[in-house]
Amino acid sequence: MKLLQDKVALITGASRGIGKAIALRLAGEGANIAFTDLKEDENMQAVVKELEALGVKAKGYASNAADLNQTLQTVEAIMADFGRIDVLVNNAGITKDGLLLKMSEEQWDAVINVNLKSVFNFTKAVQPVMLKQRSGSIVNMSSVVGVSGNAGQTNYSASKAGIIGFTKSVAKEIGSRNIRCNAIAPGFIITDMTGQLPEEVRKTWAEKIPLKRGGTPEDVANVCLFLASDLSSYVSGQVLHVCGGMNM
Ligand code: NAI
Repeated sequence: MKLLQDKVALITGASRGIGKAIALRLAGEGANIAFTDLKEDENMQAVVKELEALGVKAKGYASNAADLNQTLQTVEAIMADFGRIDVLVNNAGITKDGLLLKMSEEQWDAVINVNLKSVFNFTKAVQPVMLKQRSGSIVNMSSVVGVSGNAGQTNYSASKAGIIGFTKSVAKEIGSRNIRCNAIAPGFIITDMTGQLPEEVRKTWAEKIPLKRGGTPEDVANVCLFLASDLSSYVSGQVLHVCGGMNM
């Protein structure tokens, strides 16, 4: 029996990067996958095909996770298509880095809305479904900088720290209904997001990591599988660092 056989997982921002790796990992354990991203493009279509090749049902939804109305409509559509939601992975996120002195209101608002408000939006939309089912696992993608802070990322660090407070509060609010809520704090993971950084910066990061390498999306996806499945049945309100030992 696979770990997530016949379960339905909803993952935001999964047309590439960590979200895509999570979708594939959960599908490999039998989960049917509903995922979102900003556009229905060739990336989204390719992910659907890769997931279907694993023998599960899969569908991509174009939906801006920062928009509550779009989120509510998307969850309604997913319920019509899949009939249930067992796992929610709030993964969508962006960076708009810059020193506070130069940071615009637009940079601040965009990152808070996409990274933090999206977690409120999807958790709020999915909560009634999970309450009715009397079970569920919510996994929120935070970051090591949400714990430690990072110069040039006040907006991003604040959004990721906010996710941690939200996660712990949700765990307390609906734990009695058999719904677990945890966060993952990835360190330096090699994706398009970090690929924008200059080679020099990426090298310096890797040198600071005890395991001496950047993480892969699959490293994060394995931890997400643990938190999504019954392997972590007594784990809630926690922040699991996936950072090669960078944050202790
Ligand atoms: P990525 O940029 O490669 O992928 C993010 C995906 O989210 C993209 O497909 C993008 O189109 C989608 N997205 C962006 N805004 C959206 C919105 N408003 N609605 C729906 N989808 C949206 O990023 P990556 O590296 O895969 O990151 C995934 C998550 O992991 C993010 O929350 C990020 O903050 C977090 N993270 C990443 C780390 C890294 O080193 N790559 C480290 C720590 C956390």
